[in-house]
Amino acid sequence: MRFTCFPMTAPLIDPFARAITYLRVSVTDRCDFRCVYCMSENMTFLPKRDLLTLEELDRMCTTFIGMGVEKLRITGGEPLVRRDIIQFFRNMGRHLDSGALKELTLTTNGSQLAKYAQDLWDAGVRRVNVSLDTLDEDKFKAVTRWGRLQQVLEGIDAALDVGLKVKINAVALKGFNEPELATITEWCGKRGMDLTWIEVMPMGDMGDYDRIGQYWSLKEVRRAYDDHYTVTDLAERTGGPARYVRLEETGQKIGFITPLSHNFCESCNRVRLTCTGQLYMCLGQEDMADLRAALRADETSTAPLEAAIRAAINLKPKGHDFDYSRQKVDGQMTRHMSHTGG
Ligand code: GTP
Ligand code: 5AD
Ligand code: SF4
Repeated sequence: MRFTCFPMTAPLIDPFARAITYLRVSVTDRCDFRCVYCMSENMTFLPKRDLLTLEELDRMCTTFIGMGVEKLRITGGEPLVRRDIIQFFRNMGRHLDSGALKELTLTTNGSQLAKYAQDLWDAGVRRVNVSLDTLDEDKFKAVTRWGRLQQVLEGIDAALDVGLKVKINAVALKGFNEPELATITEWCGKRGMDLTWIEVMPMGDMGDYDRIGQYWSLKEVRRAYDDHYTVTDLAERTGGPARYVRLEETGQKIGFITPLSHNFCESCNRVRLTCTGQLYMCLGQEDMADLRAALRADETSTAPLEAAIRAAINLKPKGHDFDYSRQKVDGQMTRHMSHTGG
């Protein structure tokens, strides 16, 4: 059965008067890479039988859209490794056609983009965020453990060729991609791609991985840009947490996502749905609401689901407690980033 959008109900407003208009949906916890800051080498993944079906995910998303969600970002793990995911994008495309949804997009590691770029465009996707921390083949192998740089570069080219706007997300890692700041910036500039730097967050137990040692504050990244370019702050926003600047010499936009050095929770507009139907109201808190039972409670009506969503939004916390300032990791989450897709 295919669900259409219901008449708009009251918008989703959380206890801190923030309107929730952005849903991030992790369609799988699996990934073909094992990035060191995201996953341990031996991850245990969810059994496939625990996943919501694509039809159930459709019903979830459609219900959120009926409640005022205007931006849908598909994440993972790696979203493009989920079977038949393109059909899911095509189905979501109907909400773009109706005007209920303003943007359908995804965050990907790029490994499958060469295969799917055209299909994504045809489904109505116009913009993709690709995670890429280094342009050095050996370093790429070191940070992703399993990835092949060439495959990702081919994926990015394919995306640009079909007309997709590409934003590169790089996790800022001290002593790792620090020397590549100029190279990565110029490489993005030449291709007309925006670049966003992200501070590494304490998600999931990483064994010996040294987060504080690798933490490269974006205040320092910003200073490094100031040393080499004329940098102008921009007021514009994409609806995500990034603050943007323009490099006057090249005209390109650089984004900064600074959960550690500058908290942006006061303007948070999003919640995250996992592939099993859990709703995380904050990336940096353990609380979640299990929406699966409400989804399955009534096949003919989404009323129970809507009630469960409203109850969950009423519990959205003020913000995360990530903090490295005392030279130790505070606010650590037990779950990995791949559980909610960032
Ligand atoms: P656009 O602005 O639409 O390009 O997207 P976005 O920045 O919201 O999405 P993207 O998936 O590119 O986000 C990049 C990364 O920023 C995520 O993977 C997270 O690591 C981080 N991030 C996104 N939203 C939040 C948030 O609410 N809190 C925190 N702490 N980090 C976030
Ligand atoms: N801290 C910051 N960003 C992370 N990502 C994954 N794990 C972390 C982390 N611990 C980023 C990826 C990708 C996005 C989904 O989240 O690099 O850009
Ligand atoms: Fe996979 Fe993305 Fe996590 Fe890397 S950061 S392991 S590409 S989900």
